[in-house]
Amino acid sequence: MPDKILKFPKDFLWGSSVSSYQVEGGNIACDWSEKFPAKNACNYYLNYEHFFNLAQELNQNVHRFSLSWPRIQPSEGKFERKPIEHYRKMLLALKERNIKTMVTIWHWTLPLWMAEKGGWANSKFSDYFVQYTKFVVEELDDLVDFWLTTNEPMIYTSLSYIMGKFPPEKNNSLLTPKVIYNFVKTHKKAYNCIHDINKDAKVGVAQNLSFVDSFNEKSVINRTVTKAFDFFRNSLYLEMTKNYQDFLGVNYYFHDRVKFSPFSFPPVKIQNENKEVSDLNWEIYPEGIYQILSKLKKYNLPIYITENGLADEKDSRRTKFIKQHLRYIHKAIENGVDVQGYMHWSLIDNFEWREGYGPRFGLVEMDYKIMKSKIRPSAREYAKICRSNKLSL
Ligand code: BGC
Repeated sequence: MPDKILKFPKDFLWGSSVSSYQVEGGNIACDWSEKFPAKNACNYYLNYEHFFNLAQELNQNVHRFSLSWPRIQPSEGKFERKPIEHYRKMLLALKERNIKTMVTIWHWTLPLWMAEKGGWANSKFSDYFVQYTKFVVEELDDLVDFWLTTNEPMIYTSLSYIMGKFPPEKNNSLLTPKVIYNFVKTHKKAYNCIHDINKDAKVGVAQNLSFVDSFNEKSVINRTVTKAFDFFRNSLYLEMTKNYQDFLGVNYYFHDRVKFSPFSFPPVKIQNENKEVSDLNWEIYPEGIYQILSKLKKYNLPIYITENGLADEKDSRRTKFIKQHLRYIHKAIENGVDVQGYMHWSLIDNFEWREGYGPRFGLVEMDYKIMKSKIRPSAREYAKICRSNKLSL
């Protein structure tokens, strides 16, 4: 059978994402560093030119990274000049390589002083965040093409305040509604602050959206619970912030097939078929990205896939994973969804939060012992797509 060629829109952006704590190194004190230290990570903070050279070699024309609030504001009221000048150098290095810049202002780590004040549950959180935002945007905006205020507000809330897995490790906390409210309020204020500095800035949020469907379509109660789950998981935050987003950032990893069993605990479970899974046992479900994108069409905003990837140490599934997801993204574009870019998670293997260094999400492999990196074969395949702006199946 001849190859099927799928062309992507002109000026489509192709790249990859990282976040500060997961790659930078330097052991900066923050709410994670004591219990879950990332230590040297990939030494990306100092070695950024090396990684940007790799991104360039792989034909990528956009790169998403995050700023470290703990580095920039290690104590209350004091902003450090050194890191901001360093981040300027990094942004310039990307520009020199013709790589567009997408900067996440906050990707999950808090300065210790902010964590001690109760972090996202502090009533004045948005004021502190906006002071930090104002400082970084005034310093860096001329070199930033896209701003993301925060990464995955609802995932962070669930992991930190419902499941108790991330700092501050609160289990089923009554603070949850307040934290969600603070995420919404903080984003809106930060959005306005960025636009006061640059009215043409492009500002969004990287939201983790999952494809939710019902384990038992025939059961009315299962369908109703599924809808409620979907609303909380995917729509609540988006509905509350939709007038404050210039584009939608989408992180896609999960299919959530919701099963409701009133007599077991917990009564709501996710039960997938798991025909194909990643090293972390996460179901690989490319069609879900098409379903999500189709639902986002009504917001009439440009969409960037800000994360999509899998843990695959042997690199035996990554090429197929990328191609299948891109095939469904292309289908959404054909149906009129305005997707303008794709950033794979991740450029490099990195510190996977509580899971540590085991899971391998990188297009580039890291040997942490000798601190050497190596391009994986799937990255070369992805690079062909990035160069040609086409996918052949
Ligand atoms: C997060 C990343 C994380 C990735 C893989 C996303 O939810 O933004 O920081 O490494 O998923 O788990």
